[in-house]
Amino acid sequence: MTKTILLTGATDGIGLAAARALAAQGHRLLIHGRSAEKLAAVLAELGPTAKGHLADLSQVSQVAELARDILAEEPRLDVLINNAGVLKAPVTKTPDGLDLRFVVNTLAPYLLCKQLLPIMPADGRILNLSSAAQAPVAIPALMGQEALADMEAYAQSKLALTMFSRHLAQTLPEGPVVIAINPGSLLATNMVREGFGISGNDLSIGAEILARAASDPEFASATGLYFDNDAGRFGPPHTDALDDLKCAQVVEALDKLVALYLSRAP
Ligand SMILES: NC(=O)c1ccc[n+]([C@@H]2O[C@H](COP(=O)([O-])OP(=O)(O)OC[C@H]3O[C@@H](n4cnc5c(N)ncnc54)[C@H](OP(=O)(O)O)[C@@H]3O)[C@@H](O)[C@H]2O)c1
Repeated sequence: MTKTILLTGATDGIGLAAARALAAQGHRLLIHGRSAEKLAAVLAELGPTAKGHLADLSQVSQVAELARDILAEEPRLDVLINNAGVLKAPVTKTPDGLDLRFVVNTLAPYLLCKQLLPIMPADGRILNLSSAAQAPVAIPALMGQEALADMEAYAQSKLALTMFSRHLAQTLPEGPVVIAINPGSLLATNMVREGFGISGNDLSIGAEILARAASDPEFASATGLYFDNDAGRFGPPHTDALDDLKCAQVVEALDKLVALYLSRAP
């Protein structure tokens, strides 16, 4: 079945490789990128069935605008893949005063999930890109009140995403499914080259698991679970992601940020 799939961060790395794999399977792709030039190149490669959306996901107002555009243009979204992510950047505080990693890796995916739910069918799928790097979330850091080193911010932002994924899944018993996925560690992307100074493992490992998760029946009832592609199976995330109270605290903080920044948006 041909699905309409929104893939964020589809202009490089795992996202671009997954876009190619999903397009080859005949799906209709909504390609998100932050660079107009890179987005145009991907759209030219994928052909006229793919549609482009430009947004800097480090700016909450642009995340909200992306969601608004999609809601206005699409009657149905079968799969949302929150793939865009960041580890290192020259400036890590956003214009909104938040940590870039928490905004791009956690808050933007959360906002897209919440805003796009109205057009997602019960058999839809939300796939959130987690990581083997997961560290306990300091709520003040998530709220922009505490600065963290790069790897710590990244690992906290990825656990926060894994935690809201499980919490959101529990609120959606009828679907769509919400699944957190570690695509595989140290895959050959810019993030890994810049973050760890190594060339990295075969990128197709990450692209293939996203393509599988978007359509294979094995993922159709996996809501609230964590797929660890280093192990090649569903497995336990960090124990904090299995703690209902801690998950609820992260979601409460995310809801506060959403309310605060959306109230400021033009
Ligand atoms: N590579 C790994 O081994 C690994 C392991 C575990 C998890 N992951 C996760 O997998 C996902 C993809 O990562 P990757 O390794 O493929 O990294 P990547 O090659 O650096 O690609 C990241 C993508 O996110 C986009 N992006 C970054 N900041 C953005 C922003 N502010 N607004 C909009 N888009 C933004 C990038 O846009 P540009 O194209 O413009 O740069 C790019 O398309 C991430 O969520 C990452 O945390 C990766």
